[in-house]
Amino acid sequence: MSKLTFPETFLWGAATSSYQIEGAWQEDGRGESIWDRFAHTPGNISDGSNGDVACDHYHRWRDDVALLKQLGVHAYRFSIAWPRILPTGRGAINQKGLDFYSRLVDELLKNDIQPVATLYHWDLPQTLHDQGGWPVRATAEAFVEYIDIVSRHLGDRVKYWMTHNEPWCASFLSYQIGEHAPGWKDWPAAIAASHHLLLSHGWAVPVLRRNSPGAEVGIVLNPSPGYPASPSSYDLDAYRQHDGYMNRWFLDPLYGRQYPADMLADYTKAGFLPPTGPAWLHDGDLEAIAVPTDFLGVNYYTREVARSSAIPEDQNAPRTVIRAPREEWTEMNWEVYPNGLYDLLMRITTDYRVPKLYITENGASYSDGPDEHGRIHDIRRLRYVHAHLAASHRAIANGVPLAGYFIWSLMDNFEWAHGYSQRFGITWVDYETQQRLLKDSALWYQQTIADNAVDAI
Ligand code: FCB
Repeated sequence: MSKLTFPETFLWGAATSSYQIEGAWQEDGRGESIWDRFAHTPGNISDGSNGDVACDHYHRWRDDVALLKQLGVHAYRFSIAWPRILPTGRGAINQKGLDFYSRLVDELLKNDIQPVATLYHWDLPQTLHDQGGWPVRATAEAFVEYIDIVSRHLGDRVKYWMTHNEPWCASFLSYQIGEHAPGWKDWPAAIAASHHLLLSHGWAVPVLRRNSPGAEVGIVLNPSPGYPASPSSYDLDAYRQHDGYMNRWFLDPLYGRQYPADMLADYTKAGFLPPTGPAWLHDGDLEAIAVPTDFLGVNYYTREVARSSAIPEDQNAPRTVIRAPREEWTEMNWEVYPNGLYDLLMRITTDYRVPKLYITENGASYSDGPDEHGRIHDIRRLRYVHAHLAASHRAIANGVPLAGYFIWSLMDNFEWAHGYSQRFGITWVDYETQQRLLKDSALWYQQTIADNAVDAI
């Protein structure tokens, strides 16, 4: 069988985030976050659960590093919980919070694993939310203070920094769709939040460079490859909107092109922005957002087929997009579509001239659990990852500067509004005992890392 071999320096990793695994929500001075408040509010999480305990990683971090070592990963992407460092968002520093991450970083380095720190994976201090949250500019200022503190403390050892994880989720999914904390349904607030997230990224980059010389600095997006359902002008316009909302709204300003004019026009027409222009846009903001970075992180799970709801009967062009059959959808109801990752990587490379890319998340939710021998045959996850790595390899062969891959996730964890009902881990977590068990996909990933290659498919 022929092999697809990855570049020699390819960084193999695994990813998690603070609220999803740490637990210990009130321990050692940690402040409340918007996710504590949201999950504690009945009706928000489908299984009524919360992250109070999660994977208890706050106490089991040493074992979890041992797990990473066993897998043979080169890098571990984790996130830092802002309310552990600054319990009320600004001002008083909680040394114990800093110490926790400092110990984790040291343990990783001791095991030859590069720490890759995400600074914001959605756990905003509740106090900052009470003062307006991401829709207000002061939150972006507070973010930079927080980053300064963290990077002064860890910048000598952490050499990979990611400012934000998926600002689309932290703005639109959280403030417009209302599925994530704080659960608002307010378009103007969501648009303002997206700007302040991007702005805080732009302001944070020079601070990270100052406090962590030689580090790679970037941001993580969840760009979504869209495909018009048909060639009808209605579906093409649905595609344009999808692409503008999910992709260009973030990529364009980050790469020096300002906010997309068509989206500004749409939002103004809908009454989400005043005709006089967005009040949140100040002189110098666009320059700040377009600050050069070392890489872009891409999280990829599925694609989107754009179909207009406004399409009149007589315009009904043939529906040309054929999706994968249902059995090839994951338990999140996400279509398995590896080619979408290839298309996305190619598009970002050609349209934005990104110097370096990492896949910072990719993986699948399947609930396969242990059999009577304690083995977990999660063959569908294994196939999913294999197919996406093959697509990544093809992208590299076609000139994409892809430098690494982080599997989502190291272990099963609290999957936001789905609670513990969705399992993305390559490691099984028994939430009663907190025992971790490697699934077949983990053993396969271990071998893949050792070989630096996958079988051709
Ligand atoms: C991404 C999130 C990550 C995880 C995966 C499944 O949007 O960044 O925390 O929940 O989806």
